[in-house]
Amino acid sequence: DFIDSPNEDFILYGDEETCLRKHFRKYEEQIDNFELRDEDIIVASFPKSGTTWIQEMVWLIKHRVSLTGSEIDICERFPMLEMCSLMESRNAEEYVEKHFIKSLQYIDEQKGQRFIKTHLPLCLLPKQLKNGTKQPKVIYAIRNPKDVFTSYYHHGHVMHGWKPNMEDFAKVYLGDKVLFGPYWKHVFGFYNMRHLPNFLIIKYEDMKKDITGVIEKVCHFLGEDPLTEEQLELLRERIDFKFMKNNRAVNYKRFVEAGRKNNPDVTDFMRSGTVGNYREEMSDELISKFDEWIKRNISNTDFDEDYA
Ligand code: A3P
Repeated sequence: DFIDSPNEDFILYGDEETCLRKHFRKYEEQIDNFELRDEDIIVASFPKSGTTWIQEMVWLIKHRVSLTGSEIDICERFPMLEMCSLMESRNAEEYVEKHFIKSLQYIDEQKGQRFIKTHLPLCLLPKQLKNGTKQPKVIYAIRNPKDVFTSYYHHGHVMHGWKPNMEDFAKVYLGDKVLFGPYWKHVFGFYNMRHLPNFLIIKYEDMKKDITGVIEKVCHFLGEDPLTEEQLELLRERIDFKFMKNNRAVNYKRFVEAGRKNNPDVTDFMRSGTVGNYREEMSDELISKFDEWIKRNISNTDFDEDYA
């Protein structure tokens, strides 16, 4: 399936056979040797797990919900480490060159508090993180894999440049051939680190259920004093789905609009924002397939989420 899809630009990379663009080879070593700082904050995830939501929450918490600077695009405030490996450099405009194509340099040159996003699996992140010589704070997002899949399917055309039907996409997905897959290796890479003091797992479903509780947990993890009632209220408002959907600094409108020029089906980045949306999108047969896949992958592990 993978070979037949228009993904010949992808390779399976490294020990965990991570699906990446061929272009990644050029940056592998630079990323491995990338200099981290203990005070860095990293938000890591498998795509579509609620990364942007967590990024905005973390950024605002660290700024004590002062809105100055929050109007700047999230890509600038919270750049993606491996962005360089996802883009080609042909005649890029200056902004793209600086923030995306030279993402490593952009992050490296930042002074003060750095915020870093990544979708890379732990095994491909800088070695300083893996050997513990630097201890940046890492927040890893987890979400029901069926909602992740549904969200990924809708975002797929932007990320993969093609729009299969859901059944075909599921084959590729369950075959671990979507960008940043395999899913379970990604999740377990970080999940198994959760007992370390500089790692925190945040579940999308917990954010939907009790955002205040999650905010408190994240404040504590980041070593921040609890927010005042006023700050808390403003933060809840700013990271509410509807607000973020209309906030150009976080809704990736530019990319979505550009994507729509090629394919009018491209959905908003802030699409459904719900738990269990997969039930409205996936056939019963597909859900069963996913449930089997989930059960198979979490049996004999200490993964305690009952997503199947
Ligand atoms: P859906 O496509 O299911 O709506 P990521 O940032 O990791 O790519 O994840 C994107 C998913 O998170 C999308 O899921 C998006 O709508 C959802 N999301 C983003 N901000 C959110 C918010 N404030 N509240 C709830 N869901 C949010």
